[in-house]
Amino acid sequence: MTHDNSNWIAITNASNIPAREGRSVSVGHTEIAIFNLGERFAALENKCPHRGGPLADGIVGGTTVTCPLHNWRVCVDTGDVTKPAGHSACVRSYAVKVNEGIVYLNVAEVVEEEAAA
Ligand code: FES
Repeated sequence: MTHDNSNWIAITNASNIPAREGRSVSVGHTEIAIFNLGERFAALENKCPHRGGPLADGIVGGTTVTCPLHNWRVCVDTGDVTKPAGHSACVRSYAVKVNEGIVYLNVAEVVEEEAAA
C-alpha cells in the first residue's frame, strides 16, 4: 500500500499528548489510541486484544503499553501482545507521523478495514 499525502489526517497538536501517555480519537467507527513515546508517536486500535480494554488509558513504557484493565502489555508498533508470553493475539497498528508539531494519522488503513467489515 502506498501512503500518499491524501491519506493523512491531522489529529491534534503533539503537545496535547504528554510523554508516555495515550489519547483516543475516533476515525469513522474505529477508535484509535495515539501514544507519545517521548521521541516519536505510534497508534493502535484502542481495543486491548484480551477483553477490549482502552489501551489509550494505559501506561507507555519503552515501546509497549500496559492495558489498564488486566495489565497485558502490547507493542505499540506491531500490536503484538508481549506479556503474558505465548499469545498470538494482536491489535491493529496504524502509521503516525508528526509534522511541524501536528500529529497525523494515516487513515487509508482505517478506511480499508471498515470497508472490509
Ligand atoms: S482487557 Fe486488556 S488486559 Fe484485559
